[in-house]
Amino acid sequence: MKILITGSNGLLGQKLLHKLRLDKNIDLHATSIGDNRVTVKEGYAYHSLDITNKQEVYDLIDKIKPNVILNTAAMTNVDECEIKRDECENLNINSVKYLVSASKDFNSHIIHISTDFIYDGKKGFYSEEDKANPLSFYGLSKLRSEDFLKSTDCKWTIIRTIVVYGVTEKPKKNNIILWAKKSLEEGKEISVVKDQFRAPTFAEDLADACIAAFKKKKYGIFNVSSEEIISIYDIVLRVAKFYNLNTGLIKKISTKDLNQRAVRPYKTGFVLNKAKELLNYSPHSIEESLIEITKQLKKI
Ligand SMILES: NC(=O)c1ccc[n+]([C@@H]2O[C@H](COP(=O)([O-])OP(=O)(O)OC[C@H]3O[C@@H](n4cnc5c(N)ncnc54)[C@H](OP(=O)(O)O)[C@@H]3O)[C@@H](O)[C@H]2O)c1
Repeated sequence: MKILITGSNGLLGQKLLHKLRLDKNIDLHATSIGDNRVTVKEGYAYHSLDITNKQEVYDLIDKIKPNVILNTAAMTNVDECEIKRDECENLNINSVKYLVSASKDFNSHIIHISTDFIYDGKKGFYSEEDKANPLSFYGLSKLRSEDFLKSTDCKWTIIRTIVVYGVTEKPKKNNIILWAKKSLEEGKEISVVKDQFRAPTFAEDLADACIAAFKKKKYGIFNVSSEEIISIYDIVLRVAKFYNLNTGLIKKISTKDLNQRAVRPYKTGFVLNKAKELLNYSPHSIEESLIEITKQLKKI
């Protein structure tokens, strides 16, 4: 089976790469923009690929002829998406169009990652059938990419997820758990929102769901997160308590104090029944994933 990962330098991309590279039945092709930032080079081929470059996408897909495309590359900075809308549209929507048309002749199964930000956050605990109503351009771009995939006759799976966290090599961006841990270890005071509720997702769980989707040939939409819906403030508090760090350094703030460019949903979180039933999805709790994260941090 030939598999192509886009965005393999990113959080989810690296997890997928490590989980698949030692599978003897898989011919793995990792791609990301620029050089490979993953130290281990065995078990896969790396190709530099800018997925907004139509010709590059066509040439590489034509060369590899992948059975599966795991599309993790995206513009993920929500405020940046609000400002650089053309860039966001190119990366989050147009690239999906290129991937679909370039892989048409090979009947590739495209697994595409979407977000809880397609919802407006008024209800929380969303199922796959709940109505989307994005509040930000990022959310809208992801919804449009979903709508495009749904309109095609290719084999597609959309996996929506929420606040993904985990350990990666040479990360370009932070995630809530590692940021909180590092800041508190350094004795820094941090301000954290108390009025946004999420079900944070361990990157290993998300990668397992993506892999199950192609191994089990499951198509359609899947909502994938952790079970528990808690405030961002409580996520950070749990990290502090787990590592026995000074909780006095964590200051509660409101969303309005942040003055962010993009509007965020108040409360998301997912109903996981479909993923549990069809993908054998079994997410870790925050504490379970912190045990794993602690081990992984010792290795890098
Ligand atoms: N992280 C979250 O909290 C979260 C929540 C909901 C949904 N999602 C979705 O989950 C997916 C994976 O997220 P993630 O956290 O793994 O993202 P990530 O860490 O930002 O990884 C995305 C990767 O895409 C690469 N990339 C950027 N522009 C590219 C281009 N033009 N061509 C090819 N590669 C490009 C980036 O390269 P550089 O590293 O060099 O910049 C990065 O390595 C995304 O679709 C995201 O929207 C994420």
